[in-house]
Amino acid sequence: MMERRSAAVDLVRALRPAAPLPLALVMVLTLAICDVTAQQADTRSETNYAVPDLGSLPDDAQGRLVRRGRDLVTATYAHIGPEVSDPAKRYAGNNLACRNCHLDAGIKRFGLPLWGVSEEYPRYDAEVGQDISIEQRVNGCMKRSMNGRAMPTNAPEMKAIVAYLGFLSTGVTAGAPLTGKGAGNMPELDRAADPARGRLIYAATCALCHGLDGGGIRQGLPSMAEGFAFPPLWGPQSFNDGAGMNRLITAANFIHANMPDGTSYDHPQLSVEEAWDVAAFVVAQPRPQKADLALDFPDRATKPVDTPYGPYLDGYSEQQHKFGPFGPIREALKLLQAETAYPQTLQR
Ligand code: HEC
Ligand code: HEC
Repeated sequence: MMERRSAAVDLVRALRPAAPLPLALVMVLTLAICDVTAQQADTRSETNYAVPDLGSLPDDAQGRLVRRGRDLVTATYAHIGPEVSDPAKRYAGNNLACRNCHLDAGIKRFGLPLWGVSEEYPRYDAEVGQDISIEQRVNGCMKRSMNGRAMPTNAPEMKAIVAYLGFLSTGVTAGAPLTGKGAGNMPELDRAADPARGRLIYAATCALCHGLDGGGIRQGLPSMAEGFAFPPLWGPQSFNDGAGMNRLITAANFIHANMPDGTSYDHPQLSVEEAWDVAAFVVAQPRPQKADLALDFPDRATKPVDTPYGPYLDGYSEQQHKFGPFGPIREALKLLQAETAYPQTLQR
């Protein structure tokens, strides 16, 4: 189970500090780690979709809008974060950036890429139980991942983000089978993922960058709206409990395919088991709470098995929905969906 550990992880472990590192040293370490992973095949280009080059855009109104959209994705905190000077623009409730999760400004394969997305909307969203627009989907991340409030559809910042998402999907037709979307779908454990084992993996492999207290490492001083060099994974500056990253299956796959930062889907550095356990540790930590989560997924037969908050239709505990194993829950949901009481789910 440990055989896939790479030099980068060993490097992090060997250099693991007793106290937080000065930022400059952390930067040097990150570069060293990137070097190690660069020697492995860079498989980002192996997607069957070629992401268009921003440099090819003319310097006209549309080109500038798309570039502004990319800036909003990479430095969200500097434009619409809680520390920007204009209170009306403080949409996000934390100092994360979209690109902290949608890696490489939303283009990394299996790094929750944002290409092949906009043409899929409007589409049905089980969380709200109706069709939603791309703007509503962006606001889903604003209210949960960014722990903030919705931006109006006609806000210039929303228009810029939507223009960038559209640009990332240049030439893609709805329903086209693109590889590398999401964060992967690795095998599940037949036991519950174990936060106690995860804690040890976290201390050895993640704390160097994300901090032993999960608070990450800031860029600049608090109030300067400069975001994080290494984003927090829990605590007041993190995503809230209604966020996609707070669901175990999403977090474990994201971590396996992308962490420590620089890891690729084809060269994971954690074993599958380590990724499940460390993700369990992260989702078990305290974070901001979103109001009214019980109203999510009005059709409860479609509630994802790893939704960490109830109510549930299937009779399984919140604990099992948080940490698995998910197989038995899936079976119970299948039976429920087959009952005529839920014809609407059968049609989907
Ligand atoms: C803490 C991590 C995180 C942050 C920060 C974040 N997102 Fe997301 N986002 C996710 C996850 C996880 C999903 C997929 C959720 C799921 O499993 O359906 C997602 C999904 C999306 C989707 C839908 C993708 C699809 O395939 O339908 C869009 C669009 C999106 N995010 C935009 C944004 C934007 C814009 C920002 C910044 C304002 C942002 N996100 C910030 C984690 C994040
Ligand atoms: C070398 C430093 C480094 C190490 C080690 C590292 N990460 Fe990260 N992590 C990052 C950076 C940097 C980002 C943001 C990526 C970006 O903005 O491009 C990130 C993003 C994340 C995110 C999504 C953003 C968020 O705020 O939630 C999660 C989850 C995460 N890391 C978990 C982990 C876990 C778990 C480990 C240990 C297995 C780990 N990371 C190890 C640097 C690191």
